[in-house]
Amino acid sequence: MTSPRETAEYLKGRLGKRRPAVGLVLGSGLGPLADLVEDAAIVPFAEIAGFRVVSVAGHAGRLVAGRLAGVEVACLQGRVHAYEGANAEEIRHPIRTLKALGCERLILTNAAGSLDPAHDEGTLVLLRDHINWAGISPLAGPNDESWGPRFFPMTDAYDPAMRAALARAAARQGIALPEGVYAWYLGPNFETPAEIRAFRALGADLVGMSTVPEVLVARHCGLRVAAISAVTNLAAGLRPGQHLTHDHTQAVAARIGKAMSALLVDALPEIAAA
Ligand code: HPA
Repeated sequence: MTSPRETAEYLKGRLGKRRPAVGLVLGSGLGPLADLVEDAAIVPFAEIAGFRVVSVAGHAGRLVAGRLAGVEVACLQGRVHAYEGANAEEIRHPIRTLKALGCERLILTNAAGSLDPAHDEGTLVLLRDHINWAGISPLAGPNDESWGPRFFPMTDAYDPAMRAALARAAARQGIALPEGVYAWYLGPNFETPAEIRAFRALGADLVGMSTVPEVLVARHCGLRVAAISAVTNLAAGLRPGQHLTHDHTQAVAARIGKAMSALLVDALPEIAAA
């Protein structure tokens, strides 16, 4: 099996002089940010050993490295999800590859449902914390000490300095950016209304099927993390008569993509220095 360090060595050959310092994972419908990358080197996941090819509509499945707002970045356009049947190694591999490539910071984006009716579709929400409702971890099993310790803290997992940089960029861009707690739901079904009521009682503001496993892998290996949700819908049961679909998720995420891109491009220089 190819290790993430071997994958990174291979990618360095494909990336030439590019040396990404910030990794970005672009979620459903949010991939177009990678189109803004200058001097881009593009490598399809299918050509990267250890990267699982993405099966979900709206995820291109390629790595795009280059400069964004003057910052060296590597964007993963698309991600694998546990609900696709990805195993723990397939979820760990891309994140550890970014670390082995030299990234010190990671920004994750996702499409999510909102549990707060005040943050309806179209809102961007900065993650303050999460709840691992799926109850599984890509780090379960033998620990590889070369990446990180067996036990590790998740306090301030969402980096305060990176969050502050994003908040300042949002203010400059005139974009509202409330903070919230994200609950990871395994999927692939959307939640039941009863589950959403339970999550609200638990303190969640957002619900989605990604991001948390990647944050666990990233924090384990010492990457500093920020994550932003694009609210594509009010969560199940909050809007009578609404039935959730992936088509709706993609369509709304694509519309929010512009604001997400403006926010990240503005924030990146400060994030890289945070
Ligand atoms: N639930 C889970 N995942 C999602 C949702 C949702 O309501 N919207 C977009 N991704």
